[in-house]
Amino acid sequence: MNAPRRIILDTDPGIDDALAILLALASPEVELLGLSIVHGNCTLAEAVANGLAVLELGGGQHIPLFAGCDRPLLRPLTTAHDTHGQRGLGYAQLPPARLQPAREHAVDFIIRTALAAPGEITLVAVGPLTNVALALRKEPRLAGALREIVMMGSALRADGNVTPRAEFNVYADPHAAHIVFSSGVPLVIMPWDITRLVRLHESEVDRLAQPGKPIGRFIADATRFYIEFHRRYFGYDGCAINDPAALALVFLPDLATYTDVYVAVETCSSLTMGFTVADFMLSGGRQPNARAVVEFDTPRFLSLFVERMRTLEERLYP
Ligand code: BDR
Ligand code: CA
Repeated sequence: MNAPRRIILDTDPGIDDALAILLALASPEVELLGLSIVHGNCTLAEAVANGLAVLELGGGQHIPLFAGCDRPLLRPLTTAHDTHGQRGLGYAQLPPARLQPAREHAVDFIIRTALAAPGEITLVAVGPLTNVALALRKEPRLAGALREIVMMGSALRADGNVTPRAEFNVYADPHAAHIVFSSGVPLVIMPWDITRLVRLHESEVDRLAQPGKPIGRFIADATRFYIEFHRRYFGYDGCAINDPAALALVFLPDLATYTDVYVAVETCSSLTMGFTVADFMLSGGRQPNARAVVEFDTPRFLSLFVERMRTLEERLYP
């Protein structure tokens, strides 16, 4: 096997974020260097508590967690408690973590880690992009030091999921998204267009939730809330597990096909705030600033995800 890909996971846990953390812990192809936490699905304090509890559940006690920005760069805070539950993890009730967050700010952790290993670190960003943008602004050398950013966010050819035009992670901090899109860092975008179809269903989740299996129990309790939300809000069965699908691209890039694209984000209009304008034609000789996922092998990913959760459970809770 190749050396594991070294990653930082920038995240706002959040139900599908929690699944991304568990997938990272379950995957020997990645070395998770730390979690950097950002506001988003819930408040920063809730996201920090959730991140620590999920690390403990998934055997990640040795992984440091860094608290980052508690609000967007310019816009007021937008949370998604209706989607992710009162404290961000649906109906799951994990015991409060014994772990503590590290003292360093997430932005400084990102900068320090990337500069210490130029060209090696992949930043997987599955929440609003505030930490990432602030790090790029604070340390201009960061853009040249990161191997790439793999982000979950944007509605490129689809309707949005938080407004008719905007996807949550971009909507929650469009100015930060603008900084990331124009940073020059090699960028892979896993858009909502794709992840809305990557759905976990009650039947799959129930099979994981066997007695004495805390990871399966957690996934079932968290996603039951998320599935109810999807049924109520979108009218379909199952829940979109956006963030682990983005994370999987780091170690299984051939799950997807990609197209070069130029992406810009609307930051002025109240009607279309956070709308990502995707120029796939690269009109007027525009240079692409991202590679967007345009197709994804959902069945292969879902069976990998379920298998990895089973293996992690067996290893930690035999
Ligand atoms: C994104 O928004 C959040 O609710 C999810 O965690 C995911 O990162 C999907 O639009
Ligand atoms: Ca997220």
